[in-house]
Amino acid sequence: MVTISIITVFPQLHESFISLSLLGKAQEKGLIAINLIRFSDFVAPKERIDQQLCGPGAGMILKPEVVEKAISYCIATYGDGFKIFFSPQGTVITQPTIKLLAEKLFNLPCSPVHPESAEARTAAVEEQIPASTHIILVCPRYEGMDARVEQEYADAVLSIGDYVLMGGDLPAQVLLEALLRYAPGIVGNAESVEADSFSGPLLDHPAYTLPVLWHEQEIPAIVRSGNHEAIKQWRLDAASKKTVLNRFDWFRSARPAPDVCARAKKYIPPHYVVLMHDQVKLAGGSTGTSSVTSIDIHDTARSCATYGIKNFFLVTPLVDQLSIVHIFLDFWHSSAGKKYNPSRHEAVSRVRTETSLDRVLHSIRAETGLEPLIVTTSAKIMSHCQTIDFSDQGVVWRHSRPVVLLFGTAQGLADEVIEKSDYLLVPIEGMTDYNHLSVRSAMAIILDRWLGLQPRLRESDLGIAKLTK
Ligand SMILES: C[S@@+](CC[C@H](N)C(=O)[O-])C[C@H]1O[C@@H](n2cnc3c(N)ncnc32)[C@H](O)[C@@H]1O
Repeated sequence: MVTISIITVFPQLHESFISLSLLGKAQEKGLIAINLIRFSDFVAPKERIDQQLCGPGAGMILKPEVVEKAISYCIATYGDGFKIFFSPQGTVITQPTIKLLAEKLFNLPCSPVHPESAEARTAAVEEQIPASTHIILVCPRYEGMDARVEQEYADAVLSIGDYVLMGGDLPAQVLLEALLRYAPGIVGNAESVEADSFSGPLLDHPAYTLPVLWHEQEIPAIVRSGNHEAIKQWRLDAASKKTVLNRFDWFRSARPAPDVCARAKKYIPPHYVVLMHDQVKLAGGSTGTSSVTSIDIHDTARSCATYGIKNFFLVTPLVDQLSIVHIFLDFWHSSAGKKYNPSRHEAVSRVRTETSLDRVLHSIRAETGLEPLIVTTSAKIMSHCQTIDFSDQGVVWRHSRPVVLLFGTAQGLADEVIEKSDYLLVPIEGMTDYNHLSVRSAMAIILDRWLGLQPRLRESDLGIAKLTK
């Protein structure tokens, strides 16, 4: 049995929540026991549980000795437990964090996202959550509590999101709702929990019930076909599309397997990289051409191959510059080049040359039958373009049009080129005044931020929450 102790200013807030939610049912079935502990039971009658913040500034915070007495009473009465504090400054709860906690608390078999990390992961969780089926939820209110109490007692400090509530009671309820869905016997169909959004890299598929036609919207025929394999494939496709377009941030962080990536890629429009040696700003302030460099071609081609860019267009109107590029490309296209370094050959084989941006756009149009969207990059914010950031992939991809990522050389793209673009990506900046990245470095960073996988080792979520003593 799992024991849950909630230490709070307002037990009444939890009474109705427990009686109306699945928690009440679980309690009735004897699967869980819930104890409500009130901070004010640990002060003398009429004594306040909070007091003024030390130093300048307004706000009342819970007295440390009151919180301490409440925790000590809880441990003495119900046994030691895993103490969770709630704070907007804590680790934001995610489904994998919840699952880790649940596996330990409810003795569930561990199901690591990455089997190879199973051992390390189990060890990490063992270390963080002692064998215990008692969780103690400490819910501050007012301006929170004395910082030393967290330092002394918290096993984890959790947040439910980047906003500030008036107290830790709702966060405690959110945690319980999420956690107890994994407790055996509480949610009717355990399979549906495993198939829910955030259990893996994909969001859940769209769900329908009768009537077939509702507000002129029909349930897709395939869902009604009775063909289980076809329905499974349709659901996977629909979930992949929704995830890529709405929550690419989640997808890229959730370590999708190669087959999941392959399916998801169907919903990412083709991307092209264009490196402009024309229509660029020159040192004196005029607009003109710049020289090609072989290292840019090599490195850009390799970045493009890594991030699945369809073609890398190098644009220069200068015949002698083009011939230099072609000498270089001819080597890599030759059998000698292929033999010398097959992976470099593969990368360089996506390089194409054009004499103007218009010709690039024309060629993509001819190839795809669609008007490309231009996403420009600049070291500066330009007010006349719609600026997007590196979480706006869905905004661009929902157009289902090929995407051109446009890069300038010399002092950057001429204003007339930027003005033609559909979107402008925010500049890449460090925390310094120096801002002179080479185009190939900027491009690698941009490609990674825009299309790269960014695995998060969620095993460490609780570890991050654990306070460093
Ligand atoms: C008004 S908040 C205190 C905010 C604190 N001064 C700060 O800015 O970090 C009072 C209490 O509500 C709870 N709380 C507020 N927002 C929360 C969130 N997003 N997640 C978890 N707990 C939260 C915490 O227990 C917090 O101590």
